[in-house]
Amino acid sequence: MRFSSCLSRPGLHLWSALLLGAAVASPVFAQKFEGLALTPPMGWNTWNTFAGNISEPLIRETADALVASGLRDAGYVYLVIDDCWSLKERDAGGNLVPDPAKFPSGMRALGDYLHAKGLKFGIYSCAGDKTCGGYPGSWGHEFQDALTFASWGVDYLKYDWCNRGTADAHDAYKRMRDALHAAGRPVVFSMCEWGQNKPWEWAGDVAHLWRTTGDIYDSYDGRKSWEMGWKRILDLQCDLVPSNGPDGIGKYAGPGHWNDPDMLEVGKGGLTLAESRAHFSLWCLIAAPLMAGNDVRTMTPAVRAILTDRDVLALDQDPLGRQGFRALAEESHQIEIWAKELSHQEWAVCALNTGRTAADLTVEWGRLNFLHGVYDLRDLWTKQAAGDTSKPSTARVEAHDVMLFRLTPRP
Ligand code: GLA
Repeated sequence: MRFSSCLSRPGLHLWSALLLGAAVASPVFAQKFEGLALTPPMGWNTWNTFAGNISEPLIRETADALVASGLRDAGYVYLVIDDCWSLKERDAGGNLVPDPAKFPSGMRALGDYLHAKGLKFGIYSCAGDKTCGGYPGSWGHEFQDALTFASWGVDYLKYDWCNRGTADAHDAYKRMRDALHAAGRPVVFSMCEWGQNKPWEWAGDVAHLWRTTGDIYDSYDGRKSWEMGWKRILDLQCDLVPSNGPDGIGKYAGPGHWNDPDMLEVGKGGLTLAESRAHFSLWCLIAAPLMAGNDVRTMTPAVRAILTDRDVLALDQDPLGRQGFRALAEESHQIEIWAKELSHQEWAVCALNTGRTAADLTVEWGRLNFLHGVYDLRDLWTKQAAGDTSKPSTARVEAHDVMLFRLTPRP
């Protein structure tokens, strides 16, 4: 009797309170939400086309266009409002306030609109005390802001790295991860520290995706010396850690934790249609998160066809989750070959014309030593069977365009 009295109700309450306190305070219990990004997240983000010029009508019209164009059904479900959505000051209670001139109905109503359309709601903040655009960042307000986002129905947070003083990246991103977890609403956590602190080495249990480079621009190789076009960013996926061989940083990516080479420029004015097709193909080959950034309300049928191509998207979304690598580069033949391992011993192989002129590109299958035996070939852009790997494949390819094959092993 005396023993059981130790387990009397007041005693239990005391212990549960102590345990709960420890659980909340201790990082041992902190974690990211698992199971949210088993394949690379897909969606649309305001930044690449609209920057600070964002508003409630733009978001609603874009949501409608994502549905009407078939992008949502192809998998682009996260609609992410990037920088410049709030007032420049927090309210008296320290809360972030959506700019009422841009978002008169507020964020909860907008989140409800997106959810009713079968979309998910993404928003942006920053680990510093101000965002890159000079709006309030979440530094020192992480737990408060995470609760605010949860109350609006936010499903995805992009978290930037401007104005962070001497903050340690690991600590800063872990704090927001823990804040999101404490708020209790599952949120995909997208780190945006531009690869400055080698996030691929440590962010696997912090975030679902992490940017690996600075910002992308809508060109093949950058129009100004400081601009990175998509080809430069692609190369960096191998070249950032050359000691890992062709795999580069690819070996750190997989289901639930992805390298993010930045958002898509597909359909933007600085790219030819061929460059958009190649950019899209190669982002799928490197298992990139696919955040469209074009104006989907006015895109051409050709751009829509690229973004929604099921065969190419299937490479990106393959459940094995392997990031592709550069298998071969021969400047004299203006060719690069990129490859991605798929489930069920299949492969994807992409030949890029790196030259400024059309050229006959040849894929010599025998030189790709990761292939074993003979594979049947399907050309994913022409939608044709394309023979097999027993002899080289040659085709005329426009400047900065690609040939893209899916390889299925002969039984
Ligand atoms: C940084 C990010 C961009 C975008 C802007 C917003 O530059 O890398 O993707 O979010 O901030 O100011």
